[in-house]
Amino acid sequence: MNYLNLDKTKITKTAQELNILLADYHVYYQKLRNFHWNVVGKNFFDLHIKFEEMYDDAKLKIDEIAERILTLRFQPVSNFSDYLEKSNLKESSSTIDDVQMVKTLLNDHGTIIQQMRKVIEKADAAGDEGTIDLIGSYIADLEKTSWMLDAWSMKTNDTHPTA
Ligand SMILES: [Fe+2]
Repeated sequence: MNYLNLDKTKITKTAQELNILLADYHVYYQKLRNFHWNVVGKNFFDLHIKFEEMYDDAKLKIDEIAERILTLRFQPVSNFSDYLEKSNLKESSSTIDDVQMVKTLLNDHGTIIQQMRKVIEKADAAGDEGTIDLIGSYIADLEKTSWMLDAWSMKTNDTHPTA
């Protein structure tokens, strides 16, 4: 712990929130695989590929979140039963249509971003810049992917509000 020079009590709270985020990411990852496999219809090719791109990205982030917890010198939660119990997300059916899949993922992104903000709040209280930097970049990534999914959900003649 000495190499961090951070307050152990404050860091414990960050690690707890990171473990919930790790649980969220596992449920989200498996949901993306579910949708990648089970999407059907005219949007199959686009979404099949997009969901794969998204779960590949989630896989990298899962490892980085777990290793950040270890860097803080805490144990990452590692079993699926614990992920399901801890996660803010719920599993999805395999038989929903493409529009519902995208809507579900957009909702999940909102939930995951909220959990990331909790992590950052705790990390900020501990002066833990390393965690803030890592998770802050994840928020921007998820927000960008959310924009793309939202744009996919729009009609071709819909427009964005003027700034
Ligand atoms: Fe595949």
